[in-house]
Amino acid sequence: MDNITRIFQIESSNFDEIISAAAQIIKQGGTVAFPTETVYGLGADALNPEAVQKIFQAKGRPQDNPLIVHIADTEQLDVLAKEVSDSTRNLMDAFWPGPLTLIFRRRDIVPDVTTCGLDTVAVRMPDNPVAIALIRQAGTPIAAPSANISGRPSPTTAEHVIADLSGRIDAVIDGGPVRVGVESTVLDMTSDIPVLLRPGEVGVEQIREYVGEVLIGYTDTQVGAGEAVRSPGLKYTHYSPETRLVLVRGTSSAVVDKISELVRKYGHGNSRVGLLVTDETAEQVSADEVFLLGSRYDTSAIASNLFAGLRHLDLKDVDVIIADGSIGSDRVGVGVAVLNRLKKAADELIEL
Ligand code: TXA
Ligand code: MG
Repeated sequence: MDNITRIFQIESSNFDEIISAAAQIIKQGGTVAFPTETVYGLGADALNPEAVQKIFQAKGRPQDNPLIVHIADTEQLDVLAKEVSDSTRNLMDAFWPGPLTLIFRRRDIVPDVTTCGLDTVAVRMPDNPVAIALIRQAGTPIAAPSANISGRPSPTTAEHVIADLSGRIDAVIDGGPVRVGVESTVLDMTSDIPVLLRPGEVGVEQIREYVGEVLIGYTDTQVGAGEAVRSPGLKYTHYSPETRLVLVRGTSSAVVDKISELVRKYGHGNSRVGLLVTDETAEQVSADEVFLLGSRYDTSAIASNLFAGLRHLDLKDVDVIIADGSIGSDRVGVGVAVLNRLKKAADELIEL
């Protein structure tokens, strides 16, 4: 697997050329990482079992965690899925292309390795011109999980992909930083009442406008061993930096006080401390390394900076990272997704 990974720097002047070279790799059963609006994905031909198997190998992904299949138009959905209900069509009309993954009953053409033997398939139409052009040109749906080593924070730039997967994949298309920064909302449409399996930019309140009742099928904590889960991905460690991560949750003033106390405590023990905090919190606390997430009133900015911040501090040789959990407390919008990822990444949660 130790090969050279080609890096395609995409610009408007070479767009077609690069898409066609990358599509060629997909058609031949290779792996290409590419930008979507959420995070970078690691793509392979979703209908080619050997190609899909390379994704699992490159990421070190558990063999029972199924992939999302990316499509460029709704005709491709009919190849993959059966029984697309009217309410599902309404969601597709409203949110595709965009960061909403829908789970369907699958057709036999979808290989077992893509869905890990489930009788369902996860599908989404990404809202990114590079992703759409690549799928079109490849002429096949593209299976793509986030393009990171399993368990690490998802990549929001091509540099993150290269840091994790260089030499393990055939190519990466560098299309610059992504827009959203956290992975798509995952919604299971195969039961009578839709079930939200992962929060993302498309919020549950937006989904309810189209389908009425929605059940919450995810937890913010890690699922215990042996516990039954509906989305296999939910049971694995996620988004974790190698450095110990402590998340402090509460109102902003309480969080500021607690972080100051922790910085003092760790400092006395000669530990180097990194902070992952909002601009407002950073005005009141300091440490050896500080990564600014953005204003606490701008959860979109925080979402787009989150994974880059975790990776940045992980490289800074700190002994502990303290994360500011005063965000997302309004429980709406992408703040819910940010908090979900932080809770899953954290080794310790301090609820004030
Ligand atoms: O934004 C995204 O969704 C990104 C970009 C690249 O599109 N992809 C992504 O893929 O986050 P991944 O593999 O990191 O997460 C896919 C999630 C996992 O939690 C997996 O268990 C779940 O979707 N999933 C996939 N197929 C499923 C199925 N048939 N039933 C239930 N859950 C499924
Ligand atoms: Mg992932």
